[in-house]
Amino acid sequence: MQYTSSKIVFIVRTLFFVLIFCDQHTASEHVDSANITCDCLAHNLWIIKATYTFTNVGEDKIKDSCPQNSTEKKRISIEGTIRTLHEDSFKNISNLVEVVLPNVGLKEIESGTFRNLSNLRKLHLHDNNLHELRNGTFVNLNASSLQFGNNTIVSLESGVFQNLSNVGELNLSKNKITEIRKGVFQNVYLWILNLEKNAISNLEPGTFASMFAKDKFGISLWLANNNLEAIDSQVFNNNYIQGVGLANNSISVLRPGDFNNLPNLDSLHLSGNKIQEVPEGVFNGSRIRILNLSCNKISVIAAGAFNNMTSLSLIEIQHNKLKEWDSKWFLGLPKIIIDASYNDIETIPAQGFQNVPEGSLVELDHNHIKNISDIAFAGLASLHYLNLSYNEIKEWKVDVLKNVVIEEFVDLRVNKIRCSDMGTDVPVLQTKGVLIEDCQVP
Ligand SMILES: *[C@@H]1O[C@H](CO)[C@@H](O)[C@H](O)[C@H]1NC(C)=O
Ligand SMILES: *[C@@H]1O[C@H](CO)[C@@H](O)[C@H](O)[C@H]1NC(C)=O
Ligand SMILES: *[C@@H]1O[C@H](CO)[C@@H](O)[C@H](O)[C@H]1NC(C)=O
Ligand SMILES: *[C@@H]1O[C@H](CO)[C@@H](O)[C@H](O)[C@H]1NC(C)=O
Ligand SMILES: *[C@@H]1O[C@H](CO)[C@@H](O)[C@H](O)[C@H]1NC(C)=O
Ligand SMILES: *[C@@H]1O[C@H](CO)[C@@H](O)[C@H](O)[C@H]1NC(C)=O
Ligand SMILES: *[C@@H]1O[C@H](CO)[C@@H](O)[C@H](O)[C@H]1NC(C)=O
Ligand SMILES: *[C@@H]1O[C@H](CO)[C@@H](O)[C@H](O)[C@H]1NC(C)=O
Ligand SMILES: *[C@@H]1O[C@H](CO)[C@@H](O)[C@H](O)[C@H]1NC(C)=O
Ligand SMILES: *[C@@H]1O[C@H](CO)[C@@H](O)[C@H](O)[C@H]1NC(C)=O
Ligand SMILES: *[C@@H]1O[C@H](CO)[C@@H](O)[C@H](O)[C@H]1NC(C)=O
Ligand SMILES: *[C@@H]1O[C@H](CO)[C@@H](O)[C@H](O)[C@H]1NC(C)=O
Repeated sequence: MQYTSSKIVFIVRTLFFVLIFCDQHTASEHVDSANITCDCLAHNLWIIKATYTFTNVGEDKIKDSCPQNSTEKKRISIEGTIRTLHEDSFKNISNLVEVVLPNVGLKEIESGTFRNLSNLRKLHLHDNNLHELRNGTFVNLNASSLQFGNNTIVSLESGVFQNLSNVGELNLSKNKITEIRKGVFQNVYLWILNLEKNAISNLEPGTFASMFAKDKFGISLWLANNNLEAIDSQVFNNNYIQGVGLANNSISVLRPGDFNNLPNLDSLHLSGNKIQEVPEGVFNGSRIRILNLSCNKISVIAAGAFNNMTSLSLIEIQHNKLKEWDSKWFLGLPKIIIDASYNDIETIPAQGFQNVPEGSLVELDHNHIKNISDIAFAGLASLHYLNLSYNEIKEWKVDVLKNVVIEEFVDLRVNKIRCSDMGTDVPVLQTKGVLIEDCQVP
């Protein structure tokens, strides 16, 4: 839920298909294990020029479904069951650009199957029963979208994706991978590597070290919902990686230097782990722009933990166990959004906001704030918005925000502020942009 609110930059490359059926030819229907469709796409245009469907036992005969001589681009898709792709399944299909075989019960790919398909751009084999991917299977493949999600892959043989220079998106999510050796992704050009929803607990140092970005947006590495217990800076070691998703793993400790080998890291998601403490030296000084530490067990954040993060624009530390709001946090930052809601903070101390950048937006709702120092906001010039709703504030002194410009408002709803205390100050409060809807009648 936290994850979707975030903004990993990625581009959606869309192809528009216009259906023009210029020819239709259905072969004999005496066997019904699979219906193979071969779409001929108009040369250089993604328009279907002709569709051939072919019904048979499949396996060896996929190639027979396409016209042999035509030079048009082709797309093969299958409905039914194809358990094995053989070395010659696609042999002689000239200009095959897409192979789309989800949910056909595929268990095995023989190693030469894609060897001569130099024009293949999309290989979609998701929702099948593939158990392993072997070295040699994808040699020389120039496909830019490789989908293997929702299979039963346990092993990626060393070398299997080596030297693929045009991959773009490699989706291996929802499989049963437990470990990855370092030769698997060597010299691969990518923009998204999706390894979410596996059972990965072991990544060999160097696993991601020699991946390259396919474009200037760098690489996003998606590892959410696995079993990783720690960050190893020799594993997370790559100059092109810009986004790392590690939500819902079992990471319990963050150590100084953990992310030092990801110099271009822009977006880091660590929500839903078991982190208890954020020491100094993990993030301070880094160029991270979006940092999500929500839904952990964090009770301690070192005073300088976020200092000098000069690109930071969003920090999410909601749903943790913070008891203290530290007046020394956030030194040397640009204007940011800080979400510290759903913690156990009781006090906003003197000068608690002294380092909070001008014009920032701060969420502190759903804590246990009772005490707000008279000089809690001293040293702060402006805030965009401050959410203090759902706390236990009994008394609100108008002067507390005396020299602070509030661009939107301060939300004080659902606290324990007594109406009688507000007295004639209510209008003053309203002009100050403070929202109190429901003060309590004693
Ligand atoms: C392929 O081309 C050859 C010669 O150009 C022709 O004889 C043959 O019938 C064609 N085959 C198909 C399937 O169109
Ligand atoms: C193949 O297509 C025919 C006609 O549309 C259909 O009746 C049959 O169920 C399909 N077979 C498979 C395996 O999808
Ligand atoms: C690939 O091409 C080579 C040379 O053109 C040929 O010898 C080989 O049989 C082809 N393999 C397949 C699987 O089509
Ligand atoms: C593939 O095409 C070659 C010539 O281009 C031909 O000799 C060969 O028989 C074809 N193979 C198959 C399996 O159709
Ligand atoms: C995963 O693939 C199986 C077929 O292997 C399919 O029945 C199932 O619906 C797929 N699951 C999802 C979530 O798409
Ligand atoms: C690989 O595919 C890209 C398009 O995605 C194309 O520009 C490039 O020329 C292809 N490379 C080879 C060696 O075919
Ligand atoms: C990656 O694969 C998973 C599982 O098949 C699927 O749910 C998800 O939509 C895929 N992601 C993309 C971007 O295609
Ligand atoms: C993978 O297979 C290729 C040949 O297809 C071979 O050159 C390479 O050494 C193998 N790599 C590994 C890591 O086994
Ligand atoms: C990748 O390229 C390197 C260097 O050219 C080569 O040694 C290695 O065998 C290649 N890997 C595969 C799987 O083809
Ligand atoms: C992490 O798990 C929670 C709870 O199961 C879920 O709501 C959330 O979507 C997951 N996050 C990601 C990024 O998958
Ligand atoms: C920040 O991190 C560096 C190491 O990366 C460390 O030397 C420095 O003392 C840390 N503390 C502050 C407050 O910047
Ligand atoms: C951090 O920022 C402060 C204040 O802007 C500055 O004095 C200090 O030198 C910076 N430290 C580092 C390590 O960049």
